[in-house]
Amino acid sequence: MYNEIDLDKIDINSEPPAEEPARQYYFIAKCREIVKRKSEELGRPLYACTVNMGCQMNARDSEKLRGVLKGIGYAEGEEDEADFVIYNTCTVRENANSRVYGRLGQLKPRKARSPQMLVGLCGCMMQEPEVVEKLKKSYRFVDIIFGTHNIYKFAELIATRLESERIVIDIWKDTDQIVEDLPSERKYPFKSGVNIMFGCNNFCSYCIVPYVRGRERSREPEAILREIERLVADGVTEVMLLGQNVNSYGKTLDVPMSFAELLKEIEKIEGLRRIRFMTSHPKDLSDELIEAMAGSSKICKHLHLPVQSGSTEILKKMNRRYTKEQYLELVDKLRAAVPDISLTTDIIVGFPGETEEDFLETLDVVRRVRYDSAFTFIYSRRTGTPAAAMEGQVEEEAVKDRFNRLLTEVQTIAAEMCAVHTGTVQEALVESVSDHDASMVTGRLGNNLLVHFVGDKSLVGEYVKVRLDVCRGFYFIGSKA
Ligand code: 5AD
Ligand code: SF4
Repeated sequence: MYNEIDLDKIDINSEPPAEEPARQYYFIAKCREIVKRKSEELGRPLYACTVNMGCQMNARDSEKLRGVLKGIGYAEGEEDEADFVIYNTCTVRENANSRVYGRLGQLKPRKARSPQMLVGLCGCMMQEPEVVEKLKKSYRFVDIIFGTHNIYKFAELIATRLESERIVIDIWKDTDQIVEDLPSERKYPFKSGVNIMFGCNNFCSYCIVPYVRGRERSREPEAILREIERLVADGVTEVMLLGQNVNSYGKTLDVPMSFAELLKEIEKIEGLRRIRFMTSHPKDLSDELIEAMAGSSKICKHLHLPVQSGSTEILKKMNRRYTKEQYLELVDKLRAAVPDISLTTDIIVGFPGETEEDFLETLDVVRRVRYDSAFTFIYSRRTGTPAAAMEGQVEEEAVKDRFNRLLTEVQTIAAEMCAVHTGTVQEALVESVSDHDASMVTGRLGNNLLVHFVGDKSLVGEYVKVRLDVCRGFYFIGSKA
């Protein structure tokens, strides 16, 4: 869609159109004129840098921001040289917020030296009213602040800022709107994230996401399929379907559709080779989805299935709506249907009221499931969530001790799970030249493990059969088979 729009044909002297996405293309065209003028004055391109600080959803949002910035005429630059720095923030844990304030503190002297520089803040953290208050009071040099619901209005917000010289703050509490067909600038030419739904209705008691990303809304299947078809025509062979809880996809559509049904439709797209998705909530993982995974040659045999805790008691307090036993049964069912499936998870330690016995239940789940990898988090108290007000906040020493024990267990098992593949030949999608050795490339296997092997940049984007020679804990050194 974007490629078909000729920005030169838009009359920027007329009133902006009311409908989307035409309105945003109007503002892209308008900003482009201003940026062009500034760039001619300076005798160099203007640079922008978008920093993503959060999850895959956040990374995908950043691609949309970069798409708009490119349309406006900004070249991509490093943060320390950029004329426009945008932090796309996360707020899922407290330390994410502290990091943003720290980086803003570092930007301040630069901005004082070059007042024409722009600083933008967006993402989940901006959906917290206390944060915006603090920014207004103590970080007055920020130029544009917006949230998660109106990211599609980025071009319009930049236009307002460029024309008014005033700080632009636009935060929406929630939205039921989904604006399609805006530009985006992908990080990789051969793979892409695709939003299938936004928001979350689960209200796990520790989690701030439902408050900052709003209610669950699914995109229409036709819009998703059209986007993927277009991506494939543009060279993409792997998609990652994104949503906070993909297993409840389609429930709120006018014509409801299950996630498994959507997968089957996506699978039919010719030229698409790999389908991934995240995140799956165990309570909504259906038999239909397990069957779809088992019967598919395109859906990667990898499932990220956050357990959060192994204690039924704690799971109840977390409002996860499954027990330890139900989770373990689900894993058994998955492994029976898809024997070579790779399982990864998220685990929180130190949730309010967690006792040593509760923690041992978590370790027990880890030992029984034997995850291929796990993200482990120390519980972070998020103001406004029910858990923040719960009694029995666990003492720091105990949490650290549990966290270290969990990490050791998770890493030992992950290394053993990885080593099982040693000597096998698997297909890797080459993603880049290796960061550590320019004579090697890095590829991703269907099960999400990485393999480094001898090759050059001509292989990037190609599928290559690789023998996994040596396991290095959580990745492989291999050779072309
Ligand atoms: N404290 C610690 N970890 C959290 N997560 C979400 N909220 C919190 C919190 N308050 C973790 C969960 C989730 C992952 C994305 O972040 O494990 O699955
Ligand atoms: Fe947060 Fe739970 Fe929703 Fe995941 S499912 S985003 S942990 S509330």
